Amino acid sequence: MTTVAASTTDPRAAAELVARHRPGHALEAPFYISQDLFDLDIATVFARHWFFVASEAEIREPGDYLTIDIGDYSVIVLRDDDEEVAAFHNVCRHRGARLLNEDRGAVGNLVCSYHQWTYATDGSLLTAGLQAPGFDKSCFGLKRVHARSVDGLVFICLAADPPADFDDVAGLVTPYLAAHQLRHTKVAAQEDLVEQGNWKLVMENNRECYHCEGGHPELTCTFFPTYGYAPDAIPKRLQPAHTRYLEAQAALERACEQRGLPHAPIEELSGRPTAFRVQREALDGAGESYTRDGSAASRRLLGELDSPRLGRLSVHYQPNSWFHFLADHAITFSVIPLAADRTLVRTTWLVHEDAVEGVDYDLATLTDVWHQTNHQDSTFVARAQAGVRSPAYVPGPYSPTETHVDAFVTWYLERLQEALG
Ligand code: FES
Ligand SMILES: [Fe+2]
Repeated sequence: MTTVAASTTDPRAAAELVARHRPGHALEAPFYISQDLFDLDIATVFARHWFFVASEAEIREPGDYLTIDIGDYSVIVLRDDDEEVAAFHNVCRHRGARLLNEDRGAVGNLVCSYHQWTYATDGSLLTAGLQAPGFDKSCFGLKRVHARSVDGLVFICLAADPPADFDDVAGLVTPYLAAHQLRHTKVAAQEDLVEQGNWKLVMENNRECYHCEGGHPELTCTFFPTYGYAPDAIPKRLQPAHTRYLEAQAALERACEQRGLPHAPIEELSGRPTAFRVQREALDGAGESYTRDGSAASRRLLGELDSPRLGRLSVHYQPNSWFHFLADHAITFSVIPLAADRTLVRTTWLVHEDAVEGVDYDLATLTDVWHQTNHQDSTFVARAQAGVRSPAYVPGPYSPTETHVDAFVTWYLERLQEALG
């Protein structure tokens, strides 16, 4: 397992920062700007926990792969010849060269370009030219990384002993996902956005809708801006939206119950290694999808769903992902730290594998709302990063609608505390 000692961080200095965090307040500046703290995040959060990397739709055929770089790690995620999802360290077992140097592609075998050591898709070493007598190929397979698919969503864990609670969480989330049949989807579009901010600012920004009103005109056509508010803390100006939400939510719950679709929230966003939230909630407007008027963006619904009006199934996982599953499409979001002040946000739109672009869906309509929303969020994150860098920055208090931000930060500090002892 990667240890804190593997980073250059002074554990005592980090522990002091964690200990003096003021509950209910934003984090201090070093958490967002320090290289040491960034290294610590990689070592304690990303190298020890399960995190989301891709959907199975991105690696549909045997040999399809993608590479994920995080900190000094590079990981190959692929579909092996038995059609299972597998992950390996992207490091040749000869003299360590990086094996696959593209973001994605397809291979028969994995061939190192340096001296041509060749591996099968199960990681075993097939050929290594000119070896001394007694060379045992079976000792030089690629090093595996733990990989699990939760109903089509692929998570990896770099630790030798991954958090054991992942199976429980997968068991809780899978019944919500099942009807969307993600294994029978295809990628309609994918967008990589490099945001100019620390990965935690990206996550925190996603975990509240305090900024939605005014900040996301396209999203709030359908996303109720009361997200995150306690019912008794909803401002007067949002009461009409709240009333519409209550009516739409009651109708959605009836529709779910008729179809045996679970909808109730499960929220365990801190207090455990694999923390998550799942809930099916109503959308405003036509109530079907993330479009300007709320009507479905794809005529071909996912799985065997018989109605487009099933709201949004929204799932969060700490540390790095969120998802929206609609009746007509699904959107996955993964957050990959690149540097203390740079983060990759990868958004993937999935439609039914038989949906035809230009016939069943129009790509611009499908991607419009979240394309705009992501770019707006990217601006907010860049402004936050610029602000926390100033010596004048002092962490302010979270509002009552930022409970999920508080939960994310609580989870993050718990993880650091555990690693730092
Ligand atoms: S480093 Fe890969 S074959 Fe030599
Ligand atoms: Fe936002």
